[in-house]
Amino acid sequence: MTKQDIERADRRETILIDGAAVAASLHSELRSAVENLVERGLTPGLAVVLVGNDPASSVYVRNKIRRSVEAGLRSFHHELPSTTSETDLLALIDRLNSADDVDGILVQLPLPSHIDAQKVTSAIDPAKDVDGFHPMNVGKLSLGGEALIPCTPLGCMLLIKGVRSQLAGLNAVIVGRSNIVGKPLAQLLLRENCTVTIAHSRTADLPSVCRRADILVAAAGQPELISGDWVKPGAIVIDVGINRVQREGRQILVGDVAFESARAVAGAITPVPGGVGPMTIACLLRNTIEAACRRHGAASPLRTL
Ligand code: GUN
Repeated sequence: MTKQDIERADRRETILIDGAAVAASLHSELRSAVENLVERGLTPGLAVVLVGNDPASSVYVRNKIRRSVEAGLRSFHHELPSTTSETDLLALIDRLNSADDVDGILVQLPLPSHIDAQKVTSAIDPAKDVDGFHPMNVGKLSLGGEALIPCTPLGCMLLIKGVRSQLAGLNAVIVGRSNIVGKPLAQLLLRENCTVTIAHSRTADLPSVCRRADILVAAAGQPELISGDWVKPGAIVIDVGINRVQREGRQILVGDVAFESARAVAGAITPVPGGVGPMTIACLLRNTIEAACRRHGAASPLRTL
């Protein structure tokens, strides 16, 4: 925490965690890292695969490609029709696994229902699995090895540690048990010596569980589930939710936290949009650079986390 943050805390002023600003500074660090690698003859490459034309996925994929080009990465883009067979998708992954100029492979989820997402994820070379979804990386994360870490949980950790660097002994409650966010984030918080609870839709007395949290992460996919009276005064609140809802005849984005009521109680809170969202792509590019360095035995120009 900076002196300014401590003064704010003394005045009980809530810190608004500006994910867009943190991500912008991470992007500029990544650009320099790529420049450094290119000078050493290594241009990290990211392959993004989109199957079908889900509008939200198309937007995410477009942003991932734009950001990787801006960072100086080599970008490979594969758009396949929704009728693509699992066999054809697995064959593409095989080719990307063997391509030496591809360091990272991302298959955008969700996949059409006739394709087994777990099978596809498991087919990606773990060394190129920049999403961190391969069972090998999931296992390494839980055993404490050198894993590629899923991007959204990694982004959450960077934001939490930007507010408070020492997390040991804090009670962390994550609402949501997904493989993409809840479970890996629990491992990362455990690594930081937090006492971790994963709560979910079947948790008894969810408000009381949330009220115990020094760090409260909302990743349930339920618009404004968590209101201010579920928040412990001074808690760090991280909102992973991105929900499109109709309000007064307009479509707006809200998180899983009722922002205004939670802000009045929290010590620090992420907004939606502009909180966790922008961090995810920055972490994807970071993972790609890290994967490239590991694959080529090059020293990483990135700061260790
Ligand atoms: N769909 C929603 N989030 C993600 C993500 O982090 N990775 C991939 N591959 N697909 C997603």
